[in-house]
Amino acid sequence: MKTERSLDDGRCPGCLDMWAHEQPQAIGTVYLVGAGPGDPELLTRKAERVLREADIILHDRLVSPEILALGGPKPRRIYVGKQCGNHHVPQRRTEELLIHYARQGLNVVRLKGGDPFIFGRGGEELDALCAAGIRCEVVPGITAALGCAASAQIPLTHRDHSRSVLFLTGHDREGRSPEDWAALTRRDRTLVMYMGLGALDRFCAALRRNGLAEDWPVAVIAEGTTARQRVVRGTLATIASRAGEAGLPSPALTIIGKVAATASAEAIARETSGETDPRLSRVEPA
Ligand SMILES: C[S@@+](CC[C@H](N)C(=O)[O-])C[C@H]1O[C@@H](n2cnc3c(N)ncnc32)[C@H](O)[C@@H]1O
Repeated sequence: MKTERSLDDGRCPGCLDMWAHEQPQAIGTVYLVGAGPGDPELLTRKAERVLREADIILHDRLVSPEILALGGPKPRRIYVGKQCGNHHVPQRRTEELLIHYARQGLNVVRLKGGDPFIFGRGGEELDALCAAGIRCEVVPGITAALGCAASAQIPLTHRDHSRSVLFLTGHDREGRSPEDWAALTRRDRTLVMYMGLGALDRFCAALRRNGLAEDWPVAVIAEGTTARQRVVRGTLATIASRAGEAGLPSPALTIIGKVAATASAEAIARETSGETDPRLSRVEPA
């Protein structure tokens, strides 16, 4: 069973009852920590310190091995990742684990890709921890939108092109109201869509139906800020097929708006040649 493999010490997240006899000691703290978008150098100093001081780290799929290694030999690492449509450890179980370990008096780090409060379910975990009376601290991380935009050299706001930026998810099940579309199709605004590669075609078509021109600029950035970063540019009419032809892997993020057509000549040449930016850092595991 997948869940049984999710804990690195072989214990199943569903078997916490087995530990019910364990007596709580002084209650530990849970740190909700943002690991940033991938490049280990984009981790904050505070996140790095908290990782070093951790007894146990519960981490997502998007946290790289290099960042996990920064914790050193002491902390136990537990994978509690979720993938689209394939939830390895249910959210509720993750929250129970955080509470369980904190009640054992451990220093617990919940390490998440990007920032814990941007499409990261950090708010739900904070609520669960507060309700259980567990002390919690939040350490922000660089969210994928900021990391990817910087490393593709796309300014999310620009005095000539964009006066605001809106983060949204491609996993919007409820659909959107006409007011939403009015907000999403402002010409002086940048949209950044997380988790939307599968829905890119439909979303671009809807933006066109709701008033944006078919040559409106779009860029998709996959594995941003890592040595494997790839950027594909196009328009509302072409980007879905271009991204498909390029076979972009996950994670990928989409930037829509006039700024998506900007970047330095050097960055665009690199994208076209498929070369990796030599300045993107690589930190070897300790
Ligand atoms: C569940 S959300 C988590 C977002 C995260 N909390 C953050 O602040 O970046 C996962 C989505 O973030 C985006 N993402 C995260 N890391 C990325 C990266 N290195 N390159 C491109 N997109 C990334 C992708 O859209 C991915 O599907």
